[in-house]
Amino acid sequence: MITIRKAEKEDIDAIYEIDKASVPIPWSKNSIEEELLNMLAKFIVAVENEEVIGFAICWFVMDECHIGNIVVSPNCRHQGIGKKMLEALLEGTKEHMTNYITLEVRVTNSIAISLYEKFGFKEVCVRKHYYKNPDGTYEDALIMSKDLY
Ligand SMILES: CC(C)(COP(=O)(O)OP(=O)(O)OC[C@H]1O[C@@H](n2cnc3c(N)ncnc32)[C@H](O)[C@@H]1OP(=O)(O)O)[C@@H](O)C(=O)NCCC(=O)NCCS
Repeated sequence: MITIRKAEKEDIDAIYEIDKASVPIPWSKNSIEEELLNMLAKFIVAVENEEVIGFAICWFVMDECHIGNIVVSPNCRHQGIGKKMLEALLEGTKEHMTNYITLEVRVTNSIAISLYEKFGFKEVCVRKHYYKNPDGTYEDALIMSKDLY
């Protein structure tokens, strides 16, 4: 069974490895640790048989919830874990005075875009050269948003 719980210090290595296997420029372990202490963050992990298989984070600032990342271990994808974590983040908006949710996603990341669209996120605009690739090239970000009011 897959459970979703708050990320803890002992999850840092697993989160780091999942991120490293998934994105061109992963977070450092220090950044992950800092986010565990960030009072504005909701930082969660997906766990199966005591193994961390995904993580997600969002930040609550004023009436906005900003989704910072949602990542599933490559060998556990397309089993509904991304959806479960996104649901858990959205559940957190009920505890805050959230009016809208925003996020950035690579314009080529059609899988993530399709996940967000399933949850009612709409394209707002494109932010040019937002992501830097390890080879020095850049990729545009699609800004997506979902209104809650
Ligand atoms: C994006 C990501 C988090 C989705 O997680 P997941 O657990 O695989 O997603 P789910 O199984 O919950 O699927 C949710 C939806 O995503 C889309 N999706 C997932 N895998 C897909 C695939 N292989 N092909 C096409 N669409 C896919 C579908 O719309 C799916 O809905 P459906 O099951 O009704 O078809 C995962 O692919 C991932 O970790 N990617 C790398 C990190 C990343 O890009 N994160 C987003 C940062 S903005």
